[in-house]
Amino acid sequence: MSSSKIIKLGFVGFGTVGQSTFIALQRNLCQIKKQIGCELEVVSVAVNDLEKKRDVNLGGVTLTNDPFEVVLDPNVDIVVELIGGTEIARELVSVAIANGKHVVTANKALIAIFGDEILLSAQNEKTLIRFEAAVAGSIPIVKALSESVRGNRIKAVVGIINGTCNFVLSEMATKHVSFASILGEAQRLGYAEADPSFDVMGTDAGHKLAILSAIAFGTKFQFDKIHVEGIQDILLEDIAYAKELGYQVKHLAIAVKTPGGLELRVHPALIPLDHILASVDGVVNGILVDGDLSGPLMLSGAGAGGDATASAVISDIIDVASAIYTGGIKARALRPEKLLDYPITSFTESVSGYYVRVEAKDKPGVLAEISRVLASFNVSIEAIQQKEARDVASAKVPIVILTGRMTERAIREVCEILASSDSIIGGVICYKVEDFQWAN
Ligand code: HSE
Repeated sequence: MSSSKIIKLGFVGFGTVGQSTFIALQRNLCQIKKQIGCELEVVSVAVNDLEKKRDVNLGGVTLTNDPFEVVLDPNVDIVVELIGGTEIARELVSVAIANGKHVVTANKALIAIFGDEILLSAQNEKTLIRFEAAVAGSIPIVKALSESVRGNRIKAVVGIINGTCNFVLSEMATKHVSFASILGEAQRLGYAEADPSFDVMGTDAGHKLAILSAIAFGTKFQFDKIHVEGIQDILLEDIAYAKELGYQVKHLAIAVKTPGGLELRVHPALIPLDHILASVDGVVNGILVDGDLSGPLMLSGAGAGGDATASAVISDIIDVASAIYTGGIKARALRPEKLLDYPITSFTESVSGYYVRVEAKDKPGVLAEISRVLASFNVSIEAIQQKEARDVASAKVPIVILTGRMTERAIREVCEILASSDSIIGGVICYKVEDFQWAN
């Protein structure tokens, strides 16, 4: 081993995360080189627009607008893929691997959808692929699940794993401002995806859950089987009513091993105010891992933003560069040839309590009618409250109900019955109340 070796990086994609990573690498280069044991240098960067003005001093780095130049460059040892999306990125990563390059990526969609194929081809070509930055920004959850809890049988992984959603919900709860006005702020701060509907509609958290569940349970990457809902329809009044009842509304990603298969779901839910995840606010992400040996572990930290994500990208770069330098390729828990086709349970069979809100005609008998409907499903009522009418002239009053545990299939039937009642005006709002009780 000679410290005169230089490990060379090629970046594809140079947006928020790419530029933050580049700047942080320059800033901390001395320390990083000591950690690896040899020199490290960025030799080429592929950008979208060569003319665009950037606040980054690229020094002698070759700039190109053809990302294939980077992945085919014989000088490049590690391709840092920060281009996002699945089409071009999939091809770039495949070409990089086929050309013997190691890959560090922050691309959750790519791994969540094509993880099986990509990990297998990297294994076949004896190259390394690392994707810590794909999940939860700065939190080292991929490493924790892959390495630190390897001897455990994991029971559940539950998290707040979209910084944009958590930022929006936290601001709605504390500043009482609408969803739309806060989303613009999340975009300005660099938290949201290029297409923010990926964040608010839950897709981004779904991608991340597909990755976490594959690592935690040794299953294939199964994004397409995850039930995904977003936060785009959440109203200020439901956040306020939930709080009055002792709950916080959070956007959760849940992977639980049950006797019938894996439960994989992403959706807003009410969680008790004293639960550890309830105090995870703003752009912070929080992930609970429940192992049979470790018990519950909680990891939290900045879940989005340039520097937070750069922290994870650079940690992967150091891992891969160290492996190249020492010639040792560390085995991970995730062995692509051994991933299981574990069954995924249907969302409609998932069981929880529910928060239900209806707008009812202000007349006697409505509460009794709602109670009768729930009783016909053998479900108890934990709380029922008639709230003050928001618009006195409208002659309708909000009624908020917390139900006992029941299946999603049953609550959907309850909601249909209530929506068709003459006493109820308009639709029925319904969210799960998560009590974190797993049947495993
Ligand atoms: N848009 C993502 C989020 C960025 O808000 O969490 C980090 O993956």
